[in-house]
Amino acid sequence: MDYSNKRRQFIKGSALTIASGAFSGLLPRFGNAQSSKIKVGFMLPYSGTYANLGVGIENGFRLFVQEKGGKLAGREIEFIRVDDESDPSKATDNANKLILRDKVDLIVGTVHSGVAMGMVKLTREAGILHIIPNAGAAAATGALCSPNIFRTSFTNWQAIYPLGKHIYSKGQKTAVWVTWKYGAGDEAGEGFKEGYISVGGKVIKELAIPFPSMEFQSVLTEIAFLKPDAVACFFAGAAGAKFIKDYAAAGLKGKIPLYSSFLTDGVLDAVGTDAEGIESTAHYGDSLQIKKDKEFRIAYAKAFKMQPDAFGVQGYDSAQLFAIGLDAVKGDISNKAGMIVAMENAKIDSPRGVWTMSKAHNPVQDIYLRRVVGKENKVIGIAHKALADHARGCKMT
Ligand code: BEZ
Repeated sequence: MDYSNKRRQFIKGSALTIASGAFSGLLPRFGNAQSSKIKVGFMLPYSGTYANLGVGIENGFRLFVQEKGGKLAGREIEFIRVDDESDPSKATDNANKLILRDKVDLIVGTVHSGVAMGMVKLTREAGILHIIPNAGAAAATGALCSPNIFRTSFTNWQAIYPLGKHIYSKGQKTAVWVTWKYGAGDEAGEGFKEGYISVGGKVIKELAIPFPSMEFQSVLTEIAFLKPDAVACFFAGAAGAKFIKDYAAAGLKGKIPLYSSFLTDGVLDAVGTDAEGIESTAHYGDSLQIKKDKEFRIAYAKAFKMQPDAFGVQGYDSAQLFAIGLDAVKGDISNKAGMIVAMENAKIDSPRGVWTMSKAHNPVQDIYLRRVVGKENKVIGIAHKALADHARGCKMT
């Protein structure tokens, strides 16, 4: 990693962008008077398999702002939403709606790694503040890292890397990896394999289906045929719920233990007992003995009449991070360099536990081991303390 001269280069880069006129439509944004509202644009999935993740992120963000009386650093906040449909082919158009048409001050998005990569290409060029509240694409805080881009969730590698060691410690020496074939699935697969193989595990087969297919029959038939000691997977959202149910219906539950990172988040009400006992690694879970988490869960349940999950926490922390930046410049959003310094040095008092920002702008955080017990992803230990992503290729230019 090379972080030298990053701020000088960021300023130079912004000037170049403005001079080139490529984003000249953005200029009025920098001039938003301090008395006017600050515009926050949510570019999230509100339809499709990741819809609940998008809603959770927005809820979490709004909750923090509500707790501050609807204002951050004394400035009122206006929200604008775009449904990105988890469709990478629409990422540029959707991001431009918020950047060029609505002239938002901050863009918050998104869930799907492929869509996030489309956003990052625009936001690093435009220099607009961008908080990624979920998508784990490595390049966003790796080769394409940028001073104006921050992530409050995880990298796909980070969330699952510690899982392999746990599986192997249970005497399960062979595994099948199964995923959706797109960036997040590929990167989660690399993270899983790195951890599992490093302690002696053998991945006997890697299976994949296209995103966002929920046709799991062919992979389940193959798993039954291969009879590995364990199955590890990356699926999430509505499809995660269906995978859990199909796994049980195929007679595999209780025979071949199923593991994951986000398979069981936000779906436990929908799947009943089919998820019981599934173990996973992630940066959040239920039954954490953390005061901040207890307060957050009560407030979230009161505001939205439902229990929060990891995605709600990511939205809440995105708002916390933004507020830290805004407070540092007393609400003067045009002082972006000042906001960035404060956000880089932020120590986030999160419901997941306190975390800090890496130099590449990705959380350095504990990764928990969880087991489904009833309707909870119950935390049963810490799988890896203060885990940082490799941030490969990050140069902050
Ligand atoms: C991703 O595309 O990066 C992602 C989506 C859902 C959960 C976790 C990661």
